Amino acid sequence: RKVTVSLIKADVGSVAGHTTVPDELKKAAEENLKNAVDSGLIIDFRVFNAGDDLELLMTHDKGVDSEEIHRLAWETFEKAAGIAKELKLYGAGQDLLKDAFSGNVRGLGPGVAEMEFTERKAEPVIAFMMDKTEPGAFNMPIFRMFADPFNTAGLVIDPTMHQGFVFEIWDIKESKRVFMRTPEEMYDILALIGGKSRFVIKRVYPKEGGKLPADEPVAVISTEKLYEVAGEYVGKDDPVALVRAQSGLPAVGEVLEPFAFPHLVSGWMRGSHNGPIMPVPFKYSKCTRFDGPPRCIAAGFQLANGKIIGPVDMFDDPAFDYTRQKAMEIAEYMRRHGPFEPHRLPSEDMEYTTLPKVLEKLKGRFEEV
Ligand code: F6R
Ligand code: MG
Ligand code: MG
Repeated sequence: RKVTVSLIKADVGSVAGHTTVPDELKKAAEENLKNAVDSGLIIDFRVFNAGDDLELLMTHDKGVDSEEIHRLAWETFEKAAGIAKELKLYGAGQDLLKDAFSGNVRGLGPGVAEMEFTERKAEPVIAFMMDKTEPGAFNMPIFRMFADPFNTAGLVIDPTMHQGFVFEIWDIKESKRVFMRTPEEMYDILALIGGKSRFVIKRVYPKEGGKLPADEPVAVISTEKLYEVAGEYVGKDDPVALVRAQSGLPAVGEVLEPFAFPHLVSGWMRGSHNGPIMPVPFKYSKCTRFDGPPRCIAAGFQLANGKIIGPVDMFDDPAFDYTRQKAMEIAEYMRRHGPFEPHRLPSEDMEYTTLPKVLEKLKGRFEEV
């Protein structure tokens, strides 16, 4: 039987400033989704927050890009945004960039990661949710899960993984995509995805002739770019991802392992700074220091005919304490650069922030030399 897992998110208001989503909003979202379970539209759901983003995890049998499911998400965000406005929360309604729903939430502001697949005898899935960063932040961890033998022992040891995977990579500036294969095209893949503000991994597929159907994704990442909808900076495109695990796929521990390294991502304060991504338990899913540092939570669950068994708060473990400590050292080191690159993003990446407005004022002051 096929099931669809949809993880749809939006920042519809937060407290204090851009720190976190208050319970009132999460409760309202839960009520709405509970009604959708009762009416038979969705099978199950969980509501999370990643910093100031409200995250709706839903299972159903309507496939990806379903109008009904996207409408449900949109209406849920609208309801939460209404409460956010009453409470005068910060950035109330921020990511709902269009006034009316038009069939699909893509291009309206919310971010989407969804995939339809045949539910296996046992189906472990990890939902990753990041705040204060952008889709390319997933490039390194997703690559390492599915293609780096120093991360994923199964690529070496397990004959069902040995043949590698297919990566769907998007050029988000040109709206183009390319399918590339590991291990044979690893170096070319890295040549692209190392440029993480432009090339982002969208999906990963098994290869043909393996244990799993080659046309059903095993990982998917949201790649929506908010500034493309709004025309200007309205917060970063805080991304989410869904990753299936085990039995021919990376083990859950191999899926989590890349997050033991707090790699540098762009986002953080005013979406304009490089900083470490810190894996945190749900209770620390709030951005404080310099509106950050960028964070990631991970919700692990099993599917049982579409029902969600879990979630487990995967980073709520002392095993990630060292990483968090390391992330804070890096955060401190980066912060000491103040307004200088490479803490502040390079000029090309500042195009959609408020910096150009500052530079505009200085234009007339320049003279030829
Ligand atoms: C980053 C983010 C925050 C805001 C910052 C300024 O993604 O959301 O760091 O950019 O708090 O916010 P405004 O301009 O609303 O005062
Ligand atoms: Mg916000
Ligand atoms: Mg956010």
